[in-house]
Amino acid sequence: MSHSHEKVETNVGLMAVLIAVAVSFGGLAEIVPLMYQAEAVEPLPGVEPYPALELAGRDVYVREGCYNCHSQMVRTLRFETERYGHYSLAGESVYDRPFQWGSKRTGPDLARVGGRYSDDWHRVHLINPRDVVPESNMPGFPWLEKNKVDGAVVERRMRALRTIGDPYTDADIDGAREAVAGRTELDALVAYLQGVGRHAPRGGE
Ligand code: HEC
Repeated sequence: MSHSHEKVETNVGLMAVLIAVAVSFGGLAEIVPLMYQAEAVEPLPGVEPYPALELAGRDVYVREGCYNCHSQMVRTLRFETERYGHYSLAGESVYDRPFQWGSKRTGPDLARVGGRYSDDWHRVHLINPRDVVPESNMPGFPWLEKNKVDGAVVERRMRALRTIGDPYTDADIDGAREAVAGRTELDALVAYLQGVGRHAPRGGE
């Protein structure tokens, strides 16, 4: 036994191969069961594809790189659930492509931000965060108030999402242009933020 150990420890090539085997076994043991778990791919009750305006807002969120400072995943740890609310569940983000879980938290996690502030608070905060949180180091995004949402793009996005399985109806898609007509990117982003985590279970545990 001790003899074979010595063989591995003195042979870099063999050691590397055995490490690769051990690591990939660990990876497979974590990943493969998820592929067969229905709850990882099925939406929670009430979780639906994003309405047109929220979808447009989500695109703004991704484009502006909000994820560089904000995660959207509450972990199953006491101090996280006490601060943010119920821990995140896989079935909440089945329509999030790409998902926004992340781990970078220069600012707070946003998975439970929907309904926490008023629309007006968000508008002021997004244009200049220091107007409502004096010590904030979040950048302002004043141009969002001036950019109009392009309904044609939203419509195409919904069509594309439907081809990969999002259950948008023809009425959803045909109504997209009207739903975002005259709305700014700021309107869209606020609508998106107010919807984040809306269907999550309530309460800390
Ligand atoms: C450079 C890092 C950074 C970026 C980029 C950033 N934020 Fe923030 N954000 C923060 C910090 C820090 C705070 C905490 C202070 C505050 O409330 O302003 C915060 C707070 C927030 C809050 C309040 C959360 C709460 O629970 O109090 C919201 C909502 C928010 N950000 C949304 C956004 C959105 C949307 C974007 C992209 C358009 C964005 N942030 C981009 C750093 C950032």
